[in-house]
Amino acid sequence: MDHVRSALIPSTEPSPEQIRQAEIKTLNTINDLVVYAVDPSIYDARPFLGWDSEELRKLTDFNGKIVIDIGSGTGRLAFVAAETAAVVFAVEPVGNLRRYIKQKALSLKFTKVYPIDGTITDLPFPPGFADITMGGHVFGDSPEAEYSEMKRVTKPGGMLILCPGTSQTETKAHEYLLTQGFSWDLFEEPQDGVKRKYWKRVE
Ligand SMILES: C[S@@+](CC[C@H](N)C(=O)[O-])C[C@H]1O[C@@H](n2cnc3c(N)ncnc32)[C@H](O)[C@@H]1O
Repeated sequence: MDHVRSALIPSTEPSPEQIRQAEIKTLNTINDLVVYAVDPSIYDARPFLGWDSEELRKLTDFNGKIVIDIGSGTGRLAFVAAETAAVVFAVEPVGNLRRYIKQKALSLKFTKVYPIDGTITDLPFPPGFADITMGGHVFGDSPEAEYSEMKRVTKPGGMLILCPGTSQTETKAHEYLLTQGFSWDLFEEPQDGVKRKYWKRVE
């Protein structure tokens, strides 16, 4: 929130334009959180959720697997896995989104999708719990801590899958994932452009 601080406690009086720019930046920062709290269906209708979900299916076989989807949101990845998985735990820290996923699972008649509270650095599962651990648009703030926690909850021989949603110019998480031996490829997120996806089998 440095942009807010610099607008609110300036060394000189801010201009109306500086104040407006600070307002816009602040609103952009909290935009998604407001949508999650007010009406998750607005997020669920965003164009990039109309991606080709085959991009996930072709990375691994979900059939009969225990799957964790971190930062599940409205369940973009979770509901693809749930077509064939034994069970999908949709880890989501926002209570309103957990309620939304539960309701969506009921209306889509998916009986094996379980929303659960947690974060990418504090997953509520024992070591080696899941066959597949994945996350869409959630990895990257603290790559080392996030990767370490994802690996902890995944069985040896299991899969890690990430669709971070960042642009192709992002380097910090990308370079970290390559040093950890992830494979990667590109795919299209409608209206958001070409994004990277990553996958790795846990040793
Ligand atoms: C941009 S949405 C992505 C939702 C969904 N995975 C997708 O690909 O459409 C990011 C989600 O991650 C959740 N989130 C934010 N910080 C998180 C964290 N530290 N750990 C787990 N989830 C987090 C948010 O509440 C939100 O639902």
